[in-house]
Parts: sequence; structure tokens; C-alpha cells
Amino acid sequence: MSFELKGISKLGDKERLDELISYIKIQLDDEDDSLALMANISAFIMAILKDLNWAGFYLVGEDDLVLGPFQGLPACTRLAFDKGVVAKSYRLDEIIKVDNVHDFDGHIACDSSSMSELVVPIKSKGHIVCLIDLDSPIENRFTDIDVEGFKKIAELMNNRI
Ligand code: SME
Repeated sequence: MSFELKGISKLGDKERLDELISYIKIQLDDEDDSLALMANISAFIMAILKDLNWAGFYLVGEDDLVLGPFQGLPACTRLAFDKGVVAKSYRLDEIIKVDNVHDFDGHIACDSSSMSELVVPIKSKGHIVCLIDLDSPIENRFTDIDVEGFKKIAELMNNRI
């Protein structure tokens, strides 16, 4: 299978999300290895969505959240359960959108160019097993369209990772 992602540059935000969802569906139909899926899904997110500087996964470990497959600059390998945006999404069990990370008390800056962030929990058998983390160098980058799109992505990925 080849992924040329032709014509992406002409698409609007909603169309890009639809395109991303269609590629994620194909991946989930074709592959059942969690590591391979997370690796390619982070690459698809980065290739298809605009204005991101980091896209990847944190995996739920026994004592903290552990860095998984990602695209972007090297990141913090472990996040404590009680600090930062990813851990808050884990604790609250909900998608968290941060319009300006400098206004978020306890934000952990792995890349100082990050300005806004979206975190999405993924579950298996009712428990969060990993979280998708997206960073953007643009304030207010993430919209309700992104939140709705990533709700659909989480529904597709739940019980598959
Ligand atoms: N900003 C995150 C840390 C992970 S990096 O963005 C990749 C946080 O506050 O939890």
C-alpha cells in the first residue's frame, strides 16, 4: 500500500481530518500490532494535519506515563500522573484542549515552541491505555472540529491498541 497523500495542501481543516480518519481506518483494518499502529498513526497525523510541531503517544505505565511512538523533536520520556496536560487528560478521562499552554498551570514544555495542545485518551476494556498528544506552535490552533475529529479517532482506536 502506498500513501502519497496527494492534494493534501488544498484541503481545509475538516477535510484533512476526514482524510486522516480514512487512513487510520485502513491502518486498523490492515494491522493489529499496537506499536506499528501508533507509529504510523503519529506519522499520518503529522503528515495530514496543519501546523503541528509534535504528534505522538504516551503509554500508561505502572508509575507514570511513558513516551511512545511520535513525530517531532525528542520529548520527555516520562510524565508523572500529577503534572501537565497529558496527565490531566488521563486523570479526568477526557479530551483536553489547551489554547495557550502558558496559561496552563503545570504545563510541561518538551519543545519550547509549543503554544497550544490537544490530548486524547485511548481505552482498552474500559481503561485508558495510551493518550494521543498533539502540540502546535500556534496559539488557539485546535478547534471544536479537531475535538470532534479526535473523538471519532478515539472511538476507532479504542480496544485496538
Ligand atoms: N506538554 C505535555 C508534555 C508532553 S510534550 O508536549 C510532548 C504536558 O504538559 O503533559
